[in-house]
Amino acid sequence: MMDPWKNVPLAPPDMILQLVADFKSDPHPKKVNLGVGAYRDDHGKPWVLPAVKGAIQQLNDDPEWEHEYLTMTGLPDFLEASALLLFGKDSAALKEKRIVSNQMLSGSGALHVGGEMLARYYDFPEGKKKIYVSKPTWPNHFAMMHAVGLETEEYTYYDPATFSLNIEGYKKALREMPNGSVVLMHACAHNPSGVDPSQAQWEELLGIFREKGHFAFFDCAYQGFASGDPDKDAYSVRLFEANRIPMLVCQSFAKNTGLYGERIGALHIVVPSPDEVSKVQSQVNAQQRSEISTCPAFGARVVAKVLTEPKLHAQWLADIQTMSHRIMDMRKALYEALTQKYKTPGSWDHILSQIGMFSFLGLNQEQCSRLTEEGHIYLVKTSRISLSGLNPSNVDYVASWIDRVVRDAKL
Ligand code: LMR
Repeated sequence: MMDPWKNVPLAPPDMILQLVADFKSDPHPKKVNLGVGAYRDDHGKPWVLPAVKGAIQQLNDDPEWEHEYLTMTGLPDFLEASALLLFGKDSAALKEKRIVSNQMLSGSGALHVGGEMLARYYDFPEGKKKIYVSKPTWPNHFAMMHAVGLETEEYTYYDPATFSLNIEGYKKALREMPNGSVVLMHACAHNPSGVDPSQAQWEELLGIFREKGHFAFFDCAYQGFASGDPDKDAYSVRLFEANRIPMLVCQSFAKNTGLYGERIGALHIVVPSPDEVSKVQSQVNAQQRSEISTCPAFGARVVAKVLTEPKLHAQWLADIQTMSHRIMDMRKALYEALTQKYKTPGSWDHILSQIGMFSFLGLNQEQCSRLTEEGHIYLVKTSRISLSGLNPSNVDYVASWIDRVVRDAKL
């Protein structure tokens, strides 16, 4: 038989999702998954948030609940509530109805459509369709932006020598970009480094955006999950919006509601005047229609209930505290095991100062490979660990292995 697929080359595996598969197939009893950023409870199990369970119960009890298609824009209650969560009740753009909100296939769908909208319509400086991404960033940002025809260039962000933000390098990079450049930023809980600008540093960055007329492309995947407070985690987005920086925000509900596989998110494009909303929205709608037709309804209904029903909303605020505090506890437990029990050489303070789901340990590739091959501890080779994979039963085991690979390297 003729093989119509004979010219298809094998694609390289995805660095993060491959770890999930490798972990699953490892029979070792002490294996630990610190790879993918997905929340686990104290017993290493996925957690269905009580607020989400309550919302699903309400849907099940609702005799009117049906399964019709959503519109191309998405579920209106969900869109209204998600924009309010992100921009806050004092937002001028929200009050003036200058935000184009569309439901998306989670944050990734929003990145794709947001990138595509810019690729099609943005007046890029020097005619170069380029988006600047932080060094490092979520690896999929590159693939997604290239897929819509945007070139990527990295800007200085993380300083591996100090395990912290290189704010001077970041500001210099922003100043050196041509005016009107598009800059992709993590709204909070930077993935993979766990290093965010402070509020004062966001204000410094804002000043340069204003001077240079840059466009802010926010990826917001951890609102509420990072600090436990959704308002605090929206600081950067709200600051830029209040100062009328041209912007869009890709909003994901995967982590902060635990609805990872339901693919719930939104794209919010802030436009200068309400007159522009219908034009821009019509193009986003048309794009969604040509690619996925309409978004899934189930998760949007759940999130809409979680954000709008007062009891469920209060429960959700408690749930995000449970998740973020457990992660903070694990930061502390790992730090204490390394510094007090094992007295591992080196400084480990960054584990405590980083925020969100991840920590960049600062190990080299070889040390990471040993953790996986000999210790059965799965992590990205950049030494990014997802702290949610740690729990009281495995944190000592992980610390003992980190200690071992650090000491061996020092010999
Ligand atoms: C991660 O960075 O681990 C998550 O955002 C999951 C993913 O799809 O990569």
